[in-house]
Amino acid sequence: MCQTALHPFLEVLPKCEHHMHIEGSLEPELLFELAAKNGIALPLAGGGPGLRALRKRYEAFTGLDDFLGYYYVAMSALVDASDFERLAEAYFRRAARQNVRHAEVSFDPQAHSARGVALSTVIEGLTAARERAKRELGISSVLIMCVLRHLPPAEGVALFEEARDAGYFGGSVSDGKNDDKEKEPVLGGIGLDSSEKPFPPELWTELYGAAKKAGVRRTAHAGEEGPAQYIVDSLDMMDAQRIDHGLRSVLAGDEGVTDALLARLVDQKVMLTLCPLSNVRLRCLESVQDFPLRQLLDRGVRFSINSDDPAYFGGYILENYCALQEAFGLSVREWEGIAKGAVMGSWCADRRKWEILSEIEAVAGEWSVELGEQ
Ligand code: HPA
Ligand code: ZN
Repeated sequence: MCQTALHPFLEVLPKCEHHMHIEGSLEPELLFELAAKNGIALPLAGGGPGLRALRKRYEAFTGLDDFLGYYYVAMSALVDASDFERLAEAYFRRAARQNVRHAEVSFDPQAHSARGVALSTVIEGLTAARERAKRELGISSVLIMCVLRHLPPAEGVALFEEARDAGYFGGSVSDGKNDDKEKEPVLGGIGLDSSEKPFPPELWTELYGAAKKAGVRRTAHAGEEGPAQYIVDSLDMMDAQRIDHGLRSVLAGDEGVTDALLARLVDQKVMLTLCPLSNVRLRCLESVQDFPLRQLLDRGVRFSINSDDPAYFGGYILENYCALQEAFGLSVREWEGIAKGAVMGSWCADRRKWEILSEIEAVAGEWSVELGEQ
């Protein structure tokens, strides 16, 4: 919990999360429990660390690839649909306590199929948890199928075709009742994650072209460790509609690219899904103070604040909001603007956006009076 006067407001502020990897919410406790249930030996940090040792190791990542080594090993504990359901249920319950109202949740099917776990198994578990979150917690959600950029692009295309042909993106499979158009698709979009360098955007034109042709929404990680040019190329070559991280669009050092890129992001209302605690843990930034929050606000870039891999990076969405508040001391009205920007960049129906926007207005109105800001 942060020590700022705004903490109680930040807790209740209605939130949208767009950048979280569900496998990255696998807390060590559940990891060990599922590994024991499924008889999986975990070769982590010297063959059998305790919870505390593992958490300590998570504080010492040297970069993205160091983290990913742990991330891929830990997810080997996820085997059947009920494991994925429990994982996602735990996330949604924590998100609800932080007043997340809409969550866009990424997952990595290739990291599971490599271990013999079918796409349908993963989707079955995640879908059950999403439906319960909607019913019991009032959280709407979207599932984003990510392709791993360290694997051959043709395998990503094959995964996309498998999902498309199974009807997961909607449209192509009829259940005989002729009501497909009314249904929300199981999958709401595609993404691209894993090691950024040296896997540039031009490798993914076929995949993203196929997704665009099928009317599927498209986001992609870019500019986390890779250069700002990867962000430009993700927009130009892949027709990505939003950018996960995109941090390097705002950091000094890529002169000649960043200024025009920022103008373009603003002009085209491309949302950056930023993750400050992740950036610090993966050493993309030295500290939260270096997060370019003021530049983003001053330029009018659309962005949201997210947890990325909350079990690994020291917190969920609220802890990310709090870290920024401690570093930058924003006003209630500034947070209201950030929360509303996140709603506007969400992949949900307009009606849902209006609902959340009005919740934000009510909470911000109440707290700006409470904190004497008006
Ligand atoms: N970056 C890239 N790939 C990922 C991440 C990340 O932060 N988390 C999980 N997969
Ligand atoms: Zn990510």
